[in-house]
Amino acid sequence: MSEDLAKLLVTRRMPDNVTSRAKAQFDIHTNDDDVIRPMSEVLELADGFDAILCCSSEKFSGEAIAKLPQSVRIIATFSVGFEHIDVAAANERGIVVTNTPDVLTDATADIALLCMLGAARRAHEAQMMVREGRWNSWATTLLLGTHMSGKRLGIYGMGRIGQAVARRAKGFDMQVHYHNRRQVSPEDEFGATYHASLEDMLRVSDFLSINAPMTPQTQGFLNEERIALLPDGAVVVNTARGGLVDDDALIAALRSGKVAAAGLDVFQGEPNLNSAYLELENAYLLPHIGSATVETRDSMGFCCLDNLEAFFKGQSCPNALTA
Ligand code: DGY
Repeated sequence: MSEDLAKLLVTRRMPDNVTSRAKAQFDIHTNDDDVIRPMSEVLELADGFDAILCCSSEKFSGEAIAKLPQSVRIIATFSVGFEHIDVAAANERGIVVTNTPDVLTDATADIALLCMLGAARRAHEAQMMVREGRWNSWATTLLLGTHMSGKRLGIYGMGRIGQAVARRAKGFDMQVHYHNRRQVSPEDEFGATYHASLEDMLRVSDFLSINAPMTPQTQGFLNEERIALLPDGAVVVNTARGGLVDDDALIAALRSGKVAAAGLDVFQGEPNLNSAYLELENAYLLPHIGSATVETRDSMGFCCLDNLEAFFKGQSCPNALTA
């Protein structure tokens, strides 16, 4: 391998197209078996590398950042979410951190709609009935779900993905409401109604879609008190981060019927989700596949490589994060 190429540690297996391009541009260390290493090993392995291409499975806490070898100058995360990296600590050490916004917006919004439909139309129960041979006949009252058209959808977090959910929900003739730290411009609202108060929005959310980033302020925002504000029989969808939801509160609400159904693609402690979800027929559960399309995962990898390329050319990185 040429001496001139920057050394890149790729912590997880990448899509083939991404690995091919990375090999052409960098002196790379791959993880073909996709072993999830403890951070102590990642930090040890990073010695002598100029850059790290990581995923949300690697937690670069302040402590981990402090232990990073001096050689590491940039971390490109294969994700839009970056709660797993202490960006302030990295920046303080002069380490650049980049993420992958935009490229996964549509794929993630699609999964939010899948979760809405899956939960509202009882897709889990329906699938199990067919697969387990319990489907005896068509019936007028078989697996009646909740209609989406005409219902009020509350979107918590009106960033790129929240806006893409709003756009799609319009196609389902839903009345869209949102809460965000700031009201977005009219062209990004897609006719949605802004609520400066989260509580006011929850009161009109027949459906609630969680699309906010995970921050200390948003952590556990959907708790017992806020669930109580939702209309009875609401549908809750989370495609952002599991940590935004108080699992015990949501599970209790799903058991009581206060929340009719939930569509969840993300979980606290995933893949070790709270096992009570598995027993709930009204929970439509997916394994964090929001961005999992061939096109999107390639784009995410290319976005990481674009940032790394810019950095090593001495240019500013298109997606550099600041704390
Ligand atoms: C993201 O990009 O944040 C996805 O959720 C994968 O971590």
